[in-house]
Amino acid sequence: MNKKLLAVIFGAGLMLAACGGGNDEANDNDTATDTDTGTAPTTENASADAEKIVSSKCISCHGGNLEGQGNFPALNDVGSRLSEDEILNVIENGRGAMPGGLVTGEEAQAVAAWLAAKK
Ligand code: HEC
Repeated sequence: MNKKLLAVIFGAGLMLAACGGGNDEANDNDTATDTDTGTAPTTENASADAEKIVSSKCISCHGGNLEGQGNFPALNDVGSRLSEDEILNVIENGRGAMPGGLVTGEEAQAVAAWLAAKK
């Protein structure tokens, strides 16, 4: 009888230990989820990068606040005139006196998305 009771208690202890282990794994998963949540900051980084790229490669012509100057159109409201795709097209292929290929690939896409939001 006592032995059976001990076995039950021991068994319950094992169960608890097993549950504890399970929770640890769950916590690990939470950590993984936190890393996934890091996607949001990553997106912010992308737009911060876009801003950085624009300030290093575009403001010489388009103005320090993208307000435009002379023959260079303002970009601070370009999203109200052009779609993201059209902006990307200008960035990649150029247009008139606007040189194409200043930024390419993902950077060009990030810049286009960032500018398309400026209305
Ligand atoms: C050498 C000067 C110069 C630089 C540098 C430059 N642009 Fe331009 N950009 C122009 C000119 C000039 C135009 C007007 C083109 C035209 O007349 O069709 C223009 C037009 C544009 C347009 C279309 C605006 C509209 O209202 O239709 C976009 C979008 C644009 N530029 C984005 C950029 C981005 C993004 C960068 C940086 C990667 C950049 N430009 C760098 C000269 C420049």
